[in-house]
Amino acid sequence: MALMEPNSIAIVPSATLTTRNGDVEHRFRQHSDFHYLTGFDEPDSVFVLIPGRQHGEAILFCQERDAEVEQIHGPVTGPDRAMQLYGMDDAFPVSDIDDIIPGLIEGKTKLYYGMGARRDFDSQVIGWVNSIATNNQIGAQPPGEFVQLGQYLHELRLFKSKHEIDVMREVADITTEAHCSVLRTVRPGMYEYELEAELAYRFALRGARSTAYPSIVGGGSNACVLHYLRNDSMIRNGDLVLVDAGAEYESYAADVTRTFPANGSFSTSQAALYQIVLNAQEAAIAAVKPGNTWNQPHQAAVHEITIGLVSLGLLHGNIDILIADEAYKKFYMHKTGHWLGLDVHDVGEYQVSGAWRVFEPGMVTTIEPGLYISPECSDVPACYRGVGIRIEDNVLVTRSGNEVLTNGVPKQIPEIEKMMASVA
Ligand code: GLY
Ligand code: MN
Ligand code: MN
Repeated sequence: MALMEPNSIAIVPSATLTTRNGDVEHRFRQHSDFHYLTGFDEPDSVFVLIPGRQHGEAILFCQERDAEVEQIHGPVTGPDRAMQLYGMDDAFPVSDIDDIIPGLIEGKTKLYYGMGARRDFDSQVIGWVNSIATNNQIGAQPPGEFVQLGQYLHELRLFKSKHEIDVMREVADITTEAHCSVLRTVRPGMYEYELEAELAYRFALRGARSTAYPSIVGGGSNACVLHYLRNDSMIRNGDLVLVDAGAEYESYAADVTRTFPANGSFSTSQAALYQIVLNAQEAAIAAVKPGNTWNQPHQAAVHEITIGLVSLGLLHGNIDILIADEAYKKFYMHKTGHWLGLDVHDVGEYQVSGAWRVFEPGMVTTIEPGLYISPECSDVPACYRGVGIRIEDNVLVTRSGNEVLTNGVPKQIPEIEKMMASVA
């Protein structure tokens, strides 16, 4: 509200339930903006902010209580309890919104709203604004200015509060434990989905009932598919396995990748490629600190990867020219990270006025370089083909540099081999 101009109103809709098939719905997950502002995790709700309104500045429209409905779907909070439990100044049944909200919008000069995210709700908002101009008494004024709420709200979400950092430590910890469990469990002959199940089980045991995104478990050349989701192949002796998985806890995401040998020992060629990615990841993490720009970790990773590929003979030529020509993109085709928070690919701008954003304390980013040598790369020695490697950690920017929240999963070669040799 402090960022909003006087005499303005902000309208934020919740997520809605979506059908999976037949009468079955997907499990409800609140929209991150709505959760961030309210902590109220029911569908069919609308949050309204009116700074300076005498009869209440924070207003919630939500489902009414109904014994019959609650018998089937479970408890509903209802407007009265929403005021008591969620600090709302005022709350109304959402079924009354068309009667109430035009009166709240009327006379405001600015309306903050996230246009374009929900088409059905966009039409409703436009309908309310039009109703002020057409239906009301002479002199009723609709807002003259519409402002994208996201540019303010997402800037807030980019900087994590102490409480948010505590939750992100917890989800990082849950995810760390699950990845360690996978290292102790995997054996050649298992199917990729068995590791997916191990992750889901370990997450759920600690109250993380959802993953932050569908887990990626790719053995052998499946690891070269960046968003591999089938997870249905057998893991073979001699394969590297790439596991990219993160829990969601209290709506916050972790996003961690480790790559390890199915049989517990890296071959010489696997170790050589792995060490390049690890060097790149360590160099990139070292570049995460206040004052550096968001692109510096990527530049550090690209530098290490290019040097490594030249040393193995997968690229030839001058390092600076290869980097300028983006020769590495044949084997490393994505960026080194993204913001992390309520969304796995979290909100927040990466550039400001055309320049890369500068890191500041409280931001959380992933650092996730990789190398993907397609089985079809006939100009690459056979021992390197069909290998995909990514190493991904979650990194909090601190005042003095950074803190890696997911350091508990081993990533040095001897540490991985040691944990894999320990009994499950
Ligand atoms: N797991 C998705 C990503 O790493 O961005
Ligand atoms: Mn990621
Ligand atoms: Mn990931």
